[in-house]
Amino acid sequence: MKKFIYVPAKGLDTAQAYKLVVGCVVPRPVAWITTMGLNGLVNAAPFSSYNYVATDPPMLAINIAERAGVMKDTARNILETGEFVVNVSDEDNLDQMHASAQEYPPETSEIDELGIELLKSEMVRPPRIASSPVHMECKLDQKVVLGAGRNVLYIGEVVAFHLRDDIYDGNRVDSIKMRPIARMGGPYYAKMGEIVEKPMLQKPPGGEGWINQNK
Ligand SMILES: Cc1cc2nc3c(=O)[nH]c(=O)nc-3n(C[C@H](O)[C@H](O)[C@H](O)COP(=O)(O)O)c2cc1C
Repeated sequence: MKKFIYVPAKGLDTAQAYKLVVGCVVPRPVAWITTMGLNGLVNAAPFSSYNYVATDPPMLAINIAERAGVMKDTARNILETGEFVVNVSDEDNLDQMHASAQEYPPETSEIDELGIELLKSEMVRPPRIASSPVHMECKLDQKVVLGAGRNVLYIGEVVAFHLRDDIYDGNRVDSIKMRPIARMGGPYYAKMGEIVEKPMLQKPPGGEGWINQNK
């Protein structure tokens, strides 16, 4: 019989709680977020406390923590402009994405420091990251302050998708070919391992009558 270690959450300090959740909630997708400050400076940083949270309309949520009581550049820019772009990080741009987590001062742009190539967006001012296979242009829908206030959830409506034509055929996203990377606990990332196929047992929202999601 395996033994389990019981850890009640009450009384954990922030560092202990962080270690537990980021170790347990895995693998996590990575949103490589571009924003633009009121001064026009483009910012890029990765966030893995992230997922989609609605489909009608499509919405994404990202938890951005404060840093020593100060808002991160991404959070400040989202609040000041109401706009951001979520770029999917893949195996090819993992190193550059990771490097952009470096805590640069607000007046330094990761874009210049790391030589990140950008593309113009259609509906929002922050640009897209050229090396990413998918870009989702978002407008802030709401901000939810969580718990003691250290974490804030930014919920954005996706107003436009850009999908590279080798992973999207106009109907279906080939998420396997996309080779997304995942964040694990500690300093680890995961690349895609073996893929397992199972029949869809539920109908996708709005897809009444669909039999196979792949068709
Ligand atoms: C893979 C990865 C995932 C991260 N996820 C988050 C996250 O979900 N929330 C957060 O507040 N910080 C997260 N960080 C840390 C931020 O990227 C880091 O604080 C960054 O400097 C913020 O940049 P900014 O001040 O330009 O917004 C993550 C870092 C990495 C490398």
